[in-house]
Amino acid sequence: MSGEKPIEVLQGVDFAIRSGESSSIQGESGCGKSTFLHLLAGLDSPSSGSVLWEGIDLKSLDNAALAKKRGSLVGMVFQSYYLVPELRALENVLLAARISGILNQDTEKKARELLDRVGLTDRLSSLPSTLSGGERQRVAIARALISSPKALLADEPTGNLDEETGDSIMELLLDLCDEEEVALVLVTHNPSYANRQDRAWRLTQGRLEEQS
Ligand SMILES: Nc1ncnc2c1ncn2[C@@H]1O[C@H](COP(=O)(O)OP(=O)(O)OP(=O)(O)O)[C@@H](O)[C@H]1O
Ligand SMILES: [Mg+2]
Repeated sequence: MSGEKPIEVLQGVDFAIRSGESSSIQGESGCGKSTFLHLLAGLDSPSSGSVLWEGIDLKSLDNAALAKKRGSLVGMVFQSYYLVPELRALENVLLAARISGILNQDTEKKARELLDRVGLTDRLSSLPSTLSGGERQRVAIARALISSPKALLADEPTGNLDEETGDSIMELLLDLCDEEEVALVLVTHNPSYANRQDRAWRLTQGRLEEQS
């Protein structure tokens, strides 16, 4: 028990992701952007209100059912990649498929194709520690897409990269989401990335407002 008062982070949030549509979320540090993505991903649950996936209230699912559904619907990309350090690039992507319960004889082919698509054909056997930041994020993008999710949630995916690498990663992410018809929710501090999405939102004082 920390003895601290609970912090109310989000309050008036009414948000929907439509199939294939991209949204950006901007807001000051600490305003609750990551919290919001965790709620959308069902990694956290709201103290009031509901999160629905394809009309199903996440509260009605037990942990196993939630994890299974998340595996088939949602892909995630984080600022700090979160690759498994002991696993090679291809293995990191395959592990995600196994966790999502979609591993079959075609999965390795698809993983190789995705890693090819993100420009890592020659780095399938590389450990994350031997990859650059941009290359690690490419692996993370391939991993997020291996289960053919309907939505990809990206939390400042270029926040740890220099501008040029960040730009190329962002192009790749946007192209792939377009090609695969994946709905993207992109948290970013970069207004030019934010404004390129179909809808641009700003989170201020717990409220999410659409930018005109
Ligand atoms: N595990 C936690 N326990 C307590 N408070 C937390 C926890 N995680 C986040 N918070 C608080 O919730 C608020 C929102 O945090 P959050 O990480 O969602 O912000 P953010 O908008 O993603 O910030 P940044 O741009 O710095 O990543 C902050 O006040 C933070 O201190
Ligand atoms: Mg954050």
